[in-house]
Amino acid sequence: MEAKFPDNLKEKISYDVDRKLLIFEGVMSEDEKNELLGISQDDSYRKSIEALFQRSQITKKREKKAKLSLSGSRDILEREKEGTALTAPKENIQLKGLNPPEREDPPKERLRFSIIGQKIQEQSKQVDAGQKGEAEEKATPQTQVTKELKDEWKEAQTFYHEFVVLAQEVFDKIKEGHNFEMERVRKAIEKLIDDLTLGNESIVRLAAASDGSYSQFASNAVNVTIISIKIGVSLHYNKSGLMELGMISFLRDIGLVLLSHIIEQPRKLKTSEYEEVKKHPLYTERFLEGLGINNEVFKQVVLQHHEREDGSGYPGKLKGEAIHEYAKIIAVAEAYESLTHNRPVRAGLPPHTAMREILEEGVAFFGHRVTKAFIREFGVYPVGSAVELNTGETAKVIAVHKDFPLRPVVQLMADAEGRPISKILNLLEKPQLFIKRPVEEGKH
Ligand SMILES: [Fe+2]
Repeated sequence: MEAKFPDNLKEKISYDVDRKLLIFEGVMSEDEKNELLGISQDDSYRKSIEALFQRSQITKKREKKAKLSLSGSRDILEREKEGTALTAPKENIQLKGLNPPEREDPPKERLRFSIIGQKIQEQSKQVDAGQKGEAEEKATPQTQVTKELKDEWKEAQTFYHEFVVLAQEVFDKIKEGHNFEMERVRKAIEKLIDDLTLGNESIVRLAAASDGSYSQFASNAVNVTIISIKIGVSLHYNKSGLMELGMISFLRDIGLVLLSHIIEQPRKLKTSEYEEVKKHPLYTERFLEGLGINNEVFKQVVLQHHEREDGSGYPGKLKGEAIHEYAKIIAVAEAYESLTHNRPVRAGLPPHTAMREILEEGVAFFGHRVTKAFIREFGVYPVGSAVELNTGETAKVIAVHKDFPLRPVVQLMADAEGRPISKILNLLEKPQLFIKRPVEEGKH
């Protein structure tokens, strides 16, 4: 049967033949989504439509018309191409995001609508089927994927840097007793939510990588926000829930600015100092009041983010359901962030070792639901882990397939003899390859 888009939607939906992208103009309604879903049972196609619809809901809120593009099912698209002559729009989607005034020429943001693994799989299938079109003569699937990952990585680095600089400004202003531009923080978190909702995971690598070039306060606020939102996405929070979770994650420790003289000391804290540090949720709550943030959920979660499921936390020694789920998410994110980063008294652990530590106490500390979501999102080999393959090559995990945590996308770092190499491999597509063990970077 030849599948065609419904006549009433032909104005809105089209197929970019060169880039094999499904394009939807404007905001997709629920009815339109159902109509488009009715065309085919093809899994990949249906996922594309669902993702476009999801994207539409975000766009709708911004009251902005945007072109939405998505890699779609090749089969149905090819059939559509045969049946209808469609004009392929040339430009990719652009959305307004974090755009600090000091940057003259901000990098353009590209939105991703499929997980990297799906994209690689789809492109590999084309090669397997021997259908090498014109586009592939220009670039092989491997180089296309590599380029996309590199672009995505570069964009993530720029965004991460801008976000940490913003966090530093916020902390400095709070320390000096000034207010700060909440709107800029909100926009940065909104962009982060968009990226993580749509599977652009590059920034997660940065959240678990130690980089001494930023202050601990600023990078910790950003990292915990990234990790928390990722867990929130896994728990299917809606946009406003993710926004709330992100804002609280970002602001939860502003009270620590009053204690920097204690926590930045290059030694273990004395008991009296630790007792003082434990008051920081209360200080944050006061800061929030001073900033005019009187939202009860904000206050509750800020006060609870060091409570533990089993009652071993502080300041209230609360247990189980008495603790807000946001607070449990922030707690596990904070634990993972802290373990993976250098602190004055110890070096940061590699992601897989940090993950192992959290697994030991996870359920007792953060509860079953949140721990499960954390493991689901960060996997056995979390993004950023260095691993050794059965070939002796070492690689870094750069993307995780949620259903196949043992077969992530990796970037090779060195061959079996230790000579540097740089190549991206999707282990889901390479059954002959597997991860032998995690390694510490530089030691193999
Ligand atoms: Fe804290």
